[in-house]
Amino acid sequence: MNYVTTQQQEELRAKIREFAETEVKPIAFMLDKENEFPTEAIKKLGKMGLMGIPYPKEYGGAGLDVGSYAIAVEELSRVDGGTGVILSAHVSLGSWPIFAFGTEEQKQKYLVPLAKGEKIGAFGLTEPNAGSDAGGTETTAVLQGDHYILNGNKIFITNAPKADTYVVFAVTTPNIGTKGISAFIVEKGWEGFTFGDHYDKMGIRSSSTAELIFNDVKVPKENLLGKEGQGFKIAMATLDGGRIGIASQALGIAQGAFEHAVEYAKEREQFGKPIAQQQIISFKIADMATKLRCARFLVYSAAELKEHHEPYGMESAMAKQYASDICLEVVNDALQVFGGSGYLKGMEVERAYRDAKICTIYEGTNEIQRVVIASHILGKPKK
Ligand code: CAA
Repeated sequence: MNYVTTQQQEELRAKIREFAETEVKPIAFMLDKENEFPTEAIKKLGKMGLMGIPYPKEYGGAGLDVGSYAIAVEELSRVDGGTGVILSAHVSLGSWPIFAFGTEEQKQKYLVPLAKGEKIGAFGLTEPNAGSDAGGTETTAVLQGDHYILNGNKIFITNAPKADTYVVFAVTTPNIGTKGISAFIVEKGWEGFTFGDHYDKMGIRSSSTAELIFNDVKVPKENLLGKEGQGFKIAMATLDGGRIGIASQALGIAQGAFEHAVEYAKEREQFGKPIAQQQIISFKIADMATKLRCARFLVYSAAELKEHHEPYGMESAMAKQYASDICLEVVNDALQVFGGSGYLKGMEVERAYRDAKICTIYEGTNEIQRVVIASHILGKPKK
């Protein structure tokens, strides 16, 4: 395993694997069936200092590197894709923009409790009319005295309504496109800020996903994140990093399904021998392993670039797109190895199959990842 990872990262992997096996795996089917959030497990992760893995210790984080964060998401996702994305959305989307663009005061007030795991973070960008076209944001924030008045709806928000702190994007200057969008830190509980119903999802059912509804919410001026008009760039930069998290989630889901398929193929006998000894199955397993290894290189190398403050937007898009594409192929092949029994509720591969699909959709569809990758190579297409 340690072809691209350090000993410290592998020690962290062992710690998180142990946590995932003992604290998450035993409840994973219940969480999936009941659509329930792993509240206690997330609290324990916070107590272990793992909700702020890549943030400096002075801000309540673990002071570890981006690769360690990727490994943490991967290991949680290996047993439960929903738990993996809770950590990913909290660290990459809810906390990182405050770490990267917040004032010292904002970091002390919001980042420290997020990194310590005392609070949960979320990111409000997507809207009914602004999904892939994130620049089409319609939520508005109008400055009135010492407050911005926030109005609008955000949909498909991971960690809502469990999260306490939301980074929300809204138009402060209309009719000038992406340059009119600003970012704000919004707290749960503020008057006028409510939630829609918890979505009933196909997979990652242990993560909570809900709509944010802002009805004349008063956001103090000091909760503007970055400068007015900087919001779209903050969102895009945040997603560059977030995509490493989703790539790690996809990698973990695929790895878990792969391991189950290998184990089953060695045990299940047909035609007088274990099916692993049938070439058609062994080749399937060989292909899965190769895809996983390629994805792992892409994910860890994107994390390494981010860690060293090198450009990584194209590489994180490649990692997210490739890892999630092969995740679908791997879970499909893993379920095929199981045959009919893999199609049953209560089987890990069945849950992995449902958990996998979202990785090709959120934090930018894989079509959008190709737009990002192509524009890094060829420049932006003319509008
Ligand atoms: N970093 C910093 N700035 C960036 C940037 C980046 N990665 N990408 C673009 N920008 C800047 C550009 O330089 C440009 O600045 P100037 O105007 O100064 O030149 C400005 O932003 C506008 O850029 P574009 O014209 O390229 O923007 P666009 O409107 O064409 O959109 C897009 C580009 C890549 C399609 C973008 O809209 C996008 O990423 N869409 C997908 C949205 C997405 O991923 N949503 C996920 C929601 S969160 C989620 O899913 C979470 C979850 O559930 C877990």
